[in-house]
Amino acid sequence: EQIEKGGYDHFMLKEIYEQPSVIKDTYRGRLLANEGIIKMAGIEDNLEKFVNAQRIVIVACGTSWHAGLVAEYIFEEFTRIPVEVEYASEFRYRNPIINKGDVIIAISQSGETADTLAAIKLAKEKGAFVFGVCNVVGSSISRETHAGAYTHAGPEIGVASTKAFTTQITVLTLISLRIAKAKGTLSHSDYHNYLAELETIPEKVAEALKCNDVAKQIAAIYKDSPNCLYLGRGYNFPVALEGALKLKEISYIHAEGYPAAEMKHGPIALIDEHMPVIVIAPRQGHYDKVVSNIQEIKSRSGKIIAVVTKGDVQVRDLADHVIEIPDTVDALSPLLTTIPLQLLSYHIAVMRECNVDQPRNLAKSVTVE
Ligand code: G6P
Repeated sequence: EQIEKGGYDHFMLKEIYEQPSVIKDTYRGRLLANEGIIKMAGIEDNLEKFVNAQRIVIVACGTSWHAGLVAEYIFEEFTRIPVEVEYASEFRYRNPIINKGDVIIAISQSGETADTLAAIKLAKEKGAFVFGVCNVVGSSISRETHAGAYTHAGPEIGVASTKAFTTQITVLTLISLRIAKAKGTLSHSDYHNYLAELETIPEKVAEALKCNDVAKQIAAIYKDSPNCLYLGRGYNFPVALEGALKLKEISYIHAEGYPAAEMKHGPIALIDEHMPVIVIAPRQGHYDKVVSNIQEIKSRSGKIIAVVTKGDVQVRDLADHVIEIPDTVDALSPLLTTIPLQLLSYHIAVMRECNVDQPRNLAKSVTVE
């Protein structure tokens, strides 16, 4: 097992550090940025279905559901196709409306999650075209779907999903860009810029991983907090949910993720000097809005840990701690903002002497209801 961990203390940490290379593996042979081409067999063979889709419904559970939420923002922006993201467990039991022309995308790392599999079977019975995004080759979901694209993240052993999440987002971004090209919903220059930017993501993830020491220092300060709040907007709202889930799963600290502006409809009541608030505030996106959210937290004495773009000064003045990540376009920022949140959870869990790779009560794959 020590050998399998490749010198890391835990599989989770190894998998966090694998992200630059597995993201590259995920787009290798599929993304030809210089030529402006995206090649994915499962999409090419079914391009008409995606281009003519009236609606895309994404079904998934857990972290894969969070990747689906990121994809909702990306698909709608790039392709202008309306997207709904459903918990597979809810979808399967509520007689969902599926119309001709709807495309279902099922996302699953393991390809074995019982609820997701049942949702796929139901959608097929209703005549839908179902596309799978799985990591495990030959898994039940990859066999049950009409077509699909693998994430190529390699085996994920840690129960808390890390590299599966970022590679799922990578695949879904490639798919959206391919559809956008076919539909003409992105300008020529935007399309080419996204391709070029996507190609730089692995090296930027490697750069983001350099925040490890800072994340560890922050973890030491907040490891005994009973609660933690995560806030983000736009593309980074799902990242806030995922950051909170990661902390809960492995450190057993109660954590909630919220869209930053929703804070005033509830969570703000919880903020005092004992509440750490992790705010995702990259330069692109709704920066000014998030800065005012940070001011609201500060005026209530909340402890602010902000994830910011390298060189940021405005948030640095307000926050108790900042973690820097490289600059990128708004739509791709979740691939970078996720990294410090993974590391923060990891270090907190280690300091609390939790079983990081096999947290209590959780399974890597939930194959029964
Ligand atoms: C379990 C795992 C999570 C995972 C979820 C969905 O809860 O502990 O890490 O996100 O199942 O799994 P899937 O394999 O379908 O992505």
